[in-house]
Amino acid sequence: MTHKKINAMLLFRCCRCLTQFAPFLTQRPQASAAPAWYAIRLVGGGSSNRDQRWEYPRHGRSWTQAVAGLLAGTGAVLAYGLHHHKAEEANAVSVPVKAKTSQLPIFSQEEVTKHRTLQDGVWVTYDGAVYDITEFVAMHPGGDKILLAAGGALEPFWALYAVHNQEHVLNILSEYKVGELRAEDQKQQHSVASSDPYSSDPERHPVLRVNSLKPFNAEPPPEILSDSYVTPSAIFFKRNHLPVPQVDPASYELHVDGLPGGGLKLSLEDLKNRFPKHTVTATLQCAGNRRSEMNAVKQVKGLNWGIAAISNAKWAGARLRDVLLEAGYGPDVALWAHHVQFEGLDKDVTETTYGASIPLNKAMSEEGDVLLAYEMNGEPLPADHGFPVRVVVPGTVGARNVKWLSKITVSADESASHWQQNDYKGFSPATDWDTVNFKSAPAIQELPVQSAITVPANGAVVSRADEEVTVKGYAWSGGGREVVRVDVSLDGGKTWQVAQLRSGDRGQAPEPSPPPGRAWAWKLWELTAPLPPEAQQLEIVCKAVDNSYNMQPDTVAPIWNLRGVLSNAWHRVKVTVRDDED
Ligand code: MTE
Repeated sequence: MTHKKINAMLLFRCCRCLTQFAPFLTQRPQASAAPAWYAIRLVGGGSSNRDQRWEYPRHGRSWTQAVAGLLAGTGAVLAYGLHHHKAEEANAVSVPVKAKTSQLPIFSQEEVTKHRTLQDGVWVTYDGAVYDITEFVAMHPGGDKILLAAGGALEPFWALYAVHNQEHVLNILSEYKVGELRAEDQKQQHSVASSDPYSSDPERHPVLRVNSLKPFNAEPPPEILSDSYVTPSAIFFKRNHLPVPQVDPASYELHVDGLPGGGLKLSLEDLKNRFPKHTVTATLQCAGNRRSEMNAVKQVKGLNWGIAAISNAKWAGARLRDVLLEAGYGPDVALWAHHVQFEGLDKDVTETTYGASIPLNKAMSEEGDVLLAYEMNGEPLPADHGFPVRVVVPGTVGARNVKWLSKITVSADESASHWQQNDYKGFSPATDWDTVNFKSAPAIQELPVQSAITVPANGAVVSRADEEVTVKGYAWSGGGREVVRVDVSLDGGKTWQVAQLRSGDRGQAPEPSPPPGRAWAWKLWELTAPLPPEAQQLEIVCKAVDNSYNMQPDTVAPIWNLRGVLSNAWHRVKVTVRDDED
């Protein structure tokens, strides 16, 4: 047995653990997309089932059970695949910028960025070195997640799933090395023009699907979103209207106005030390989540969000209620005040800040769980999510969860902010930009019941040989209403099956059941069902039911509105069932 084969066998054991961590893919790419050299046997020589499942792919069966995606499984897949690679074979792909003492060529970032597809080659960088992993990607149909890293750095991916950053994985990766990254490009990645108002925006995880760069708006790929019950902060969707303000935590001040006490000024330390710390797991959803489906009916105005402008985190901080009580709130305040307004530190060119408000009773309710959060997932808030303090209003549309919070005002009136008055409101499909009157509609607060399918993706292909299909997704409802059921159909809504709901990560204790009216966090759901015999195509549909028996509307057109908000129709994906002989 050769050294490499032994290596591969040892790694196989490790990879089994890693793939357990990973989602199993249920589809494979269409053969037409694959180049001729796609059909390479990964583990050569053997005839065991284990070997067969890594054999691509036209007649393979159980490989679909074993291939892990990049983020959750790159290390595993690399471990399997890399031993076949001869780094020197790949060197001919491109002209080096200049030679280096290591004899390997030096590539510019521009050159690396050109290699983002199987056709052009798939390159990644790691620790200043350039790797050509084309062959490895080609051997792993369904490894579409790998392409998310193509043309860029591996570090951010492995930072998310630290399990891959192990010596043996790195050793094997080294066999794919084709060169070094030009030194100035390593630095350049981090430098941005100083005149740019966005120049101090933080670095973002490259897996995010960017809807707009400046201001930064991005969502995670859906299949990654549903990998974690608590969304890692790095991939939590990001919705910024303005540049991210840089805030010095030492000089940060939060002003509380509008109460008889004459106002309160709190430092970050005051907030942490003078008030009990509360932790709440809550899902945030942008009003524009799933806007792209409204766009498909008729053009709307706004960022073209897919289904992942929603995420779930553990937030910790002081209760807004406690702070308002400290600032002088008493029962008589409710006689004249109805709203609590928030102002952020992010400003436009006219120095106008982001602002929003929520009803006073939500802010003051002991069951409202509104936080002045300074922690997200056990860490200080990341810059994109409002460092050092943001409001978290569980059950309420993302827009009211004001980040980089500078001022709280108890008032008879709603916030005068554009985002409260002239945006984030729902209208009839009959309303157009000539007839719309923003004053005629209430500001969105609690969101309606929602669910979507994260796996498989629309357009995916499943093999009939697999005999079953696994469908995954999320479900959530606003106002603390708990999702009690998710129905899934494989035939466009003619017949239904009930999915399994989950309030925690697989293998871990679920979150305790929330008290009635305080179900702030989403549920992940999953259904594995037999493939309907004969079906050439599945129209997979999901719909959620909350504990008020609110259900999602079945189609988009009747809820279409000119801003593309509140898009919560049954979610549908079409999947092709491929016969082996196809
Ligand atoms: N707060 C400030 N100060 N500035 C903003 O642009 N965007 C709002 C809200 N709070 C925003 C803000 C919107 S529209 C949403 S959906 C959420 O923040 C997004 O929060 P996230 O970026 O932490 O996901």
